[in-house]
Amino acid sequence: MSAAIEKYVDVATLIGSEKPVNPVYCIYPHIYSEVAGEFLQGFPGRVLYAVKANPNPDILKLLIDSGIQHFDCASLPEIELVHALAPQASKYLMIPTRIRGAAEKAQTDFGVRHFLVDHLSGLGQLEKEIDTSQAVIFARMAVHHESAMEDLSARFGAPPEEMPELLHAIKASGAEPAFAFNVGSSVTDPEAYRHALSVTRSVLEQLPFKLRLLDVGGGYPKSYPGFIVPGLDKYFNAIEKSLGDLPLAGNAEVLGEPGRALAAPGMSAVVEVILRKDNRLFLNDGMFGIFWVLRIDGPDRFPVRVFRDGEVMTGASRPFQLNGPTCDSTDTLPGLVDLPIDIRAGDYLEFGNIGAYSLGGRSDYNGYYSDRIVTITKVTERPPLVEN
Ligand SMILES: Cc1ncc(COP(=O)(O)O)c(C=O)c1O
Repeated sequence: MSAAIEKYVDVATLIGSEKPVNPVYCIYPHIYSEVAGEFLQGFPGRVLYAVKANPNPDILKLLIDSGIQHFDCASLPEIELVHALAPQASKYLMIPTRIRGAAEKAQTDFGVRHFLVDHLSGLGQLEKEIDTSQAVIFARMAVHHESAMEDLSARFGAPPEEMPELLHAIKASGAEPAFAFNVGSSVTDPEAYRHALSVTRSVLEQLPFKLRLLDVGGGYPKSYPGFIVPGLDKYFNAIEKSLGDLPLAGNAEVLGEPGRALAAPGMSAVVEVILRKDNRLFLNDGMFGIFWVLRIDGPDRFPVRVFRDGEVMTGASRPFQLNGPTCDSTDTLPGLVDLPIDIRAGDYLEFGNIGAYSLGGRSDYNGYYSDRIVTITKVTERPPLVEN
């Protein structure tokens, strides 16, 4: 659970006063409340935070305090985590794969009402574990769009032509049937949601009954250097406009499951240069640590600023290759990054926008691992960020 987290006014003070030898991950609370507000005000429906993007309890707490009340969970431990922080929050078990007994415990011990399946076999298993009369069961449709950096339809989701049968079966089970899809992660074109909603329409039109809940998933992207995406408002507008004339029940509600867009901007990683060899820098964190997500297609770098003796370095720059500390030959960050010409061991890099798919997913390979997470308190302090 949330430890008594250390606080620093700003990153310069953290580095200047301590020269930390291990990576430090900095939480900017004011940024979490800004992005939560942006979603809560702009998204045309219920906002479920996708816990997998960053399950850190302090970040969850900040999102809860900023008004996020619904949580898309991928496992029982994620449900337990959210429940311990906010027993009143709604937890949704939105994954078609579940450890045996997880759905039963989720419903009985944590009051979970919303579940998800993508195949008749999964529905059969779920029916054995839960009281379906107390449940909403989403059928997840597979839908792909080329603008999604990460395709989430390859392993999960029923083909559109199987959706009517699955929804009929959910209704027959006694549960309330509902509809879900996930167009992918880092979706670079709002058109992806328009496309998915037009496929949704073709399925809904085949049903003799109307659905109340439609979950349009996650995928809302953030900009990174060399990876500039449209603003969130463009995604919200595309969704809202396409919802207009869908054949849904009168009291219908749309749900969204943002992970990255909520988690990324409010956290940075402060790492030290531990060795320079010409144009190659070796850092105390790498591809087996906080940067692991760079192995996946999508943005290939984070915005960065450099500190020496607690001051931000400016001046002429040149491209450097960045490497992690392990002896593994794959421990190199993709691409080259422009940094001050005379950067050297003992300087620090602060990487911004690093709150999504970073803390969860690290390993202690080769013995390099840090769990030092601090809060930055000065509300005017901003980590390096690229605006959408
Ligand atoms: C079911 C589901 N919902 C939401 C998300 C969050 O996606 P993103 O971080 O792209 O918003 C994911 C990501 O894997 C997912 O699998």
